[in-house]
Amino acid sequence: MSALIHRPRRMRQHPTFRNMVRETRLSLDQLIYPLFIKESISVRNPIDSMPGYFQLPLSDIADEAAEAYALGIQAVCLFGIPTHKDPTGSASLEHDSIVAESVRRIKDRCPDLLVVVDICLCEYTSTGHCGVMNEHTGRVDLDNDKTLDILAAQAIVLAKAGADVMAPSGMIDGQVAAIRAGLDGEGYSHIPIFCHTAKFASSCYGPFRQMAEGGLKFGDRKTYQLDIANGNAAIREHQLDIEQGADLLMVKPAGWYLDVIYATKQRFPEFTLGAYQVSGEYAMIKAAAKNGWLDEKKMIEESLIAIRRAGADLIFTYFAKDYAMMVQQR
Ligand code: PBG
Ligand code: ZN
Repeated sequence: MSALIHRPRRMRQHPTFRNMVRETRLSLDQLIYPLFIKESISVRNPIDSMPGYFQLPLSDIADEAAEAYALGIQAVCLFGIPTHKDPTGSASLEHDSIVAESVRRIKDRCPDLLVVVDICLCEYTSTGHCGVMNEHTGRVDLDNDKTLDILAAQAIVLAKAGADVMAPSGMIDGQVAAIRAGLDGEGYSHIPIFCHTAKFASSCYGPFRQMAEGGLKFGDRKTYQLDIANGNAAIREHQLDIEQGADLLMVKPAGWYLDVIYATKQRFPEFTLGAYQVSGEYAMIKAAAKNGWLDEKKMIEESLIAIRRAGADLIFTYFAKDYAMMVQQR
């Protein structure tokens, strides 16, 4: 027995050595913290399905961003919940829209915090869909090209407000090209587009719909988001967005799509790859932890490491603040 030469366990004996040979690193500056700002509230509103997470009033946004920044978080991603909803999501085009105002306040307080903004219509449309719906054909589907004009206009409004990065999340065909042309035409050719290039029609978005109040009035998102079973189709979506000028790639959700993250990184190693750990992934861990069934901190770290190990460079995660506090306590 003692003649055994190969003993991988030798490498795991000393904690310092274990740490030294760790392949995958997770750093706070790889995390992007999503924030939701609701126009009609004046105090923060807890969300049942997302323990520890809140809809914020505009009056709190600068404080919240400053707190995150002080904890070491380098980037936030803003979602707005407007009071006025209509079929075309027109509230997203006002120069003082809830997100535009939030961007101004954050930039005023924390100029160095990277402000990413969601570009989509679902929080602004009365239908709850990510674009304008077809009226005349009777088909329940998006009017793809009408939606593109609105997305480009939304991006311009937010660029003018001072946003650093645009993150279109609607899986509308041609959205990267339309937003790129819109931004370039207004002198914002320096602003990157961090598109949700491969977003699946997942059930893991449940809590987000409550949070963003983007519940559908009819239909589903299966005509614009990817079929959950189609990994190869994700590669095709990335490819099309690259052709349109996408600056980074993204896979969403993250934890249940590690194969897609891995395949994406292998296929497009020259692109920075983001992954979005979505609301349902957050909710599952929080719920199990609340029951004492799983160790919350360990699950948070393991879930994030797994996404990094699969190949993601950056992670959108509701755990950003939790993780920042864990790092501080070490
Ligand atoms: C909508 C959007 C969704 C998410 C981000 N943007 C939900 C959806 O497509 O239904 C989900 C994020 C999450 O669950 O955390 N454009
Ligand atoms: Zn949407």
